[in-house]
Parts: sequence; C-alpha cells; structure tokens
Amino acid sequence: MPIFKKDKKQKITSPKSAENPLQLINNCKIGEGTKIWNFVNIYECEIGSDSMVGCFCEIQKGVRIGDRTRIQSHSFICDLVEIGNDCFVGHGVMFINDVYPPQPDRSEWKGTVVEDGVSIGSNATILPVRIGRNAIIGAGAVVTKDVPEGAVVAGNPASFLRYRNGSKGE
Ligand SMILES: CC(C)(COP(=O)(O)OP(=O)(O)OC[C@H]1O[C@@H](n2cnc3c(N)ncnc32)[C@H](O)[C@@H]1OP(=O)(O)O)[C@@H](O)C(=O)NCCC(=O)NCCS
Repeated sequence: MPIFKKDKKQKITSPKSAENPLQLINNCKIGEGTKIWNFVNIYECEIGSDSMVGCFCEIQKGVRIGDRTRIQSHSFICDLVEIGNDCFVGHGVMFINDVYPPQPDRSEWKGTVVEDGVSIGSNATILPVRIGRNAIIGAGAVVTKDVPEGAVVAGNPASFLRYRNGSKGE
C-alpha cells in the first residue's frame, strides 16, 4: 500500500555537508521547507517537504519520510523504514530491521511502515511492524506487533490501551 506521497516537489537535493560542517548529509533528497538541525548523520534517504529532523539523529540509506513529519532529536531510523505524512517521532525513538543481529545479509532484514498521522512517544523501540494511520505509541513502548489504525498502545511489549478519540476503531 503506497503511503509515500508528497504534496510538494522535492526541490533541494543533496545539500552538501561542506555547507555546514556540523551536519553530515550525503546523497539525500530533501523537500522544500524541511528543517534539518545540526549534528545529524543522514545518508541516501528521502525526506518530504515541511518536515523536521532534530539533532543527533541518524537516518539510514533507503529510508523514506513524508511531508510535515517531525523526527525529534536522538532518534535512529534504519534502512527499510517508511514513515508517512504528518507523523511525530519522539525523542530517542529506535527502529529495528535486523531482528537477530548481527545479520549481514540484508535480505534477512525486515521493514517497518508508519502510516500517516502516527505519533510515537519518546524512547520507544519499534521492531519490524506496520503502524496504522493515526495510531499513538506510548513513551518507552517496545512495539513487537502491528498496531491497528487509531489504536493507542504502550508498554513492553506494547499492548492495546484504547482507540484514539475520533478514530474509526471507537
Ligand atoms: C500512551 C499515552 C498516549 C497514554 O495516554 P492516556 O490514554 O492518557 O493514558 P493514561 O494516562 O490514562 O493511562 C492509562 C494506563 O496506561 C498506562 N500507561 C500510560 N502511558 C504509558 C506508557 N507510556 N507506558 C506504559 N504504560 C503507560 C498508565 O499507567 C495507565 O495504566 P493503569 O490503567 O494500569 O493505571 C501516554 O501516556 C504517552 O506515553 N504519551 C507519549 C508522550 C511522549 O512521549 N511525548 C513525546 C514528546 S514530549
């Protein structure tokens, strides 16, 4: 299911790290209006328009992030992760693609899809899952299973608390 559609064209491609020695940005496609803070390491990924990446984030090759999505500081977003539009990724959120590390064979890694409007609390760990539209992930959650649209989950392992107000699950 395609979740990655951008409202605006990506105008800025691969700003050179040399333009700001406090950033490592290599071969990225970054949309208009997206703010990247200092002390980031982001490479060969795609970020839409009017989004934000906070300091001390690493975003790996192949990651795709939509429009108006905020990635707060200290988060790690690995290869095979796709994040939609209007999402919030809290501080220190860790994504996982290699479930049995170290597994050098990339074909054994698994991906994660974060659909539009999802909010992920600080310090959550996201194993390879699909997180449905407008879901909320509690702070410190360890998400081991797919999360339905509009669900609020928390804990380790994350379990269902309720449906978000106004979501179709209610
Ligand atoms: C998950 C969350 C949205 C739930 O909010 P809520 O629906 O108002 O939940 P409540 O506070 O009513 O708590 C409901 C139950 O879930 C538990 N709970 C709430 N958040 C939890 C969390 N992050 N981890 C584990 N349990 C949690 C509560 O202890 C309570 O348990 P109880 O019924 O046994 O007493 C919220 O607690 C949260 O973690 N938000 C993320 C905040 C964040 O990281 N922001 C980042 C920017 S600062």
